[in-house]
Amino acid sequence: MSAKKTDHKPGDVPTTGHSWDGIEEFDNPMPRWWLWTFYITIVWALLYSIAYPAWPMITRATQGVLGYKVVNELNADIERFSQLNGPIRAKLVETDLSAITANPELVQFANQAGAAVFKTWCAQCHGAGAAGVQASGYPNLLDDDWLWGGDIEAIHTTVGHGIRNTADADARFSQMPAFADMLSAEEIGQVVNHVRQISGQDHDAAAAAAGATLFADNCASCHGAEGKGDRAQGAPNLTDAIWLYGGSVDALTHSVRFARFGVMPNWNTRLSEADIRAVAVYVHGLGGGE
Ligand code: HEC
Ligand code: HEC
Repeated sequence: MSAKKTDHKPGDVPTTGHSWDGIEEFDNPMPRWWLWTFYITIVWALLYSIAYPAWPMITRATQGVLGYKVVNELNADIERFSQLNGPIRAKLVETDLSAITANPELVQFANQAGAAVFKTWCAQCHGAGAAGVQASGYPNLLDDDWLWGGDIEAIHTTVGHGIRNTADADARFSQMPAFADMLSAEEIGQVVNHVRQISGQDHDAAAAAAGATLFADNCASCHGAEGKGDRAQGAPNLTDAIWLYGGSVDALTHSVRFARFGVMPNWNTRLSEADIRAVAVYVHGLGGGE
């Protein structure tokens, strides 16, 4: 503090008594409007934190006396949208599956709803673009190579009941035997060469010729005499170079020795009939629909 004292006229605002190098600090009161705004914000904050969820406690925050929850608003929105979509969803369920594609309004709605269902429930296995995952057992749904059938009815059945699951008695089912115990390693090599031959890949001609007989005896009952597959049994076409598990010698040998058992869950307990129909229409429309 400086020793120097400044002069004050009567009526001047009092100072706080602080003085640095002769510069003194006036003791002005806060403007009224500012003070009141400040108090109001404090009161507002207190009331707000009583009314709405606010203070973090040990397990959860205080809930607020108004019972407000963000999730309620979300649910209300969802409810509002499903009310809006109610009539067209009902129509989707009532319309004959085969007649849906003839109704542009239904197709448009189903495609949008189906795309959303697909993203949520199907993409983790079939890929976001439904192109499947190479040699993973998750089929590409864009092509026109169908294991179980590619018309709306077939897709609808596949999606609703699923494939080889234990939860739905009507799931599509078939089981290829593992040939490791039935055929010798040499025979398996021969039949693999035959499969390589009919799928247009490099092969040993002599082994493939021997494999053809083995194929007719052991494989044709499911995969067909020409290896073109059988949808009634979900037996893949082995001639089209579209592989569920891979067409290399290793992958084929594995398929024949141990067999494969692709499982898809049934969706009829998880999705509404309208959603199943919507996603069936969506998948059907992806390019490979029949
Ligand atoms: C847990 C993984 C998984 C999920 C999730 C899944 N799928 Fe599949 N899906 C599979 C597998 C595996 C197959 C092939 C089964 C087989 O080998 O026959 C398959 C086959 C299919 C087929 C038959 C294709 C054909 O060629 O006949 C359709 C159609 C299909 N899925 C649609 C869907 C739809 C639509 C959804 C979402 C509602 C879905 N999938 C969700 C694993 C899944
Ligand atoms: C009882 C019927 C049945 C018999 C017999 C059978 N298969 Fe299969 N095979 C299937 C089914 C069903 C699948 C599909 C499995 C899946 O989707 O998980 C399959 C899958 C395959 C695959 C995998 C195809 C791919 O796209 O990756 C190959 C390869 C194959 N079989 C070869 C053979 C050969 C070779 C034989 C004879 C030695 C044979 N199968 C006998 C039913 C059969």
